[in-house]
Amino acid sequence: MALALEQVGVAFGGFRALSDVSLSVAPGKIVGLIGPNGAGKTTCVNVLTGFQRPSSGRVMLDGRDVSSLPAHRLRRAGVARTFQAGRLFGGLDVLDNLACAGVGLGLRRSEAEHQASHLLRWMGIADLESRPAAGLPYTNERRVAIARALMGKPAYLLLDEPAAGMSETEAADLAALIRRIAEERGTGCLLIEHNVGLVLSVCSDVVVLDGGRIIERGDRQVILGSTAVREAYLGVNAEAA
Ligand SMILES: Nc1ncnc2c1ncn2[C@@H]1O[C@H](COP(=O)(O)OP(=O)(O)O)[C@@H](O)[C@H]1O
Ligand SMILES: [Mg+2]
Repeated sequence: MALALEQVGVAFGGFRALSDVSLSVAPGKIVGLIGPNGAGKTTCVNVLTGFQRPSSGRVMLDGRDVSSLPAHRLRRAGVARTFQAGRLFGGLDVLDNLACAGVGLGLRRSEAEHQASHLLRWMGIADLESRPAAGLPYTNERRVAIARALMGKPAYLLLDEPAAGMSETEAADLAALIRRIAEERGTGCLLIEHNVGLVLSVCSDVVVLDGGRIIERGDRQVILGSTAVREAYLGVNAEAA
């Protein structure tokens, strides 16, 4: 059981955004994906979720080749994501943002609302239920986007820079939430983050991309000890990291 890229390449015209990328996320685990801007992280998420077809290689979901499934089919099959920019429906309240996603996944309206309010309670943000999504403070907007991605109980969740713009305290709260998602719900998570400290604190397994290629993978110690990582990534903003 896993969601995986197998030797995936992605070309945009003559530009190779990904070359020979293999990685996998198992249920209940949190895998980190880091690398400098333009490394190909979002492209990996796009391929894993059916938003981008691989030019070569395969996407596997629990042993099945899903490389040609479109995004909405993969979502129904249990692969959910958040986007770098929130993408909530600003005109709807928080509960409706979640309920709409549930209806889109085939739930009856009443079931969708029930699941939505259960999820908001589980995340400790039930008080936001009837707030318009448009006016939400940034950190709450992120939480709502994650809650919405959890509608339909996906087996896998891909988080594209969920802590961007957060303070250290807010990021630590988010890290705790991601741990709960993996541990209590058994969801396999792929966490893309700029905040290397955050990634190393929640991920047992980290993959490092640079220029569309995997340059390192391993646990905290491997990543911190890696010259390739230091040169490609940590060196760029060693102070921030
Ligand atoms: N749809 C696209 N068409 C052309 N180039 C793209 C497209 N999407 C991404 N790229 C390029 O692919 C590279 C990797 O992008 P991306 O996956 O967004 O990187 P990251 O998320 O690591 O910052 C970048 O050079 C980007 O400009
Ligand atoms: Mg990106």
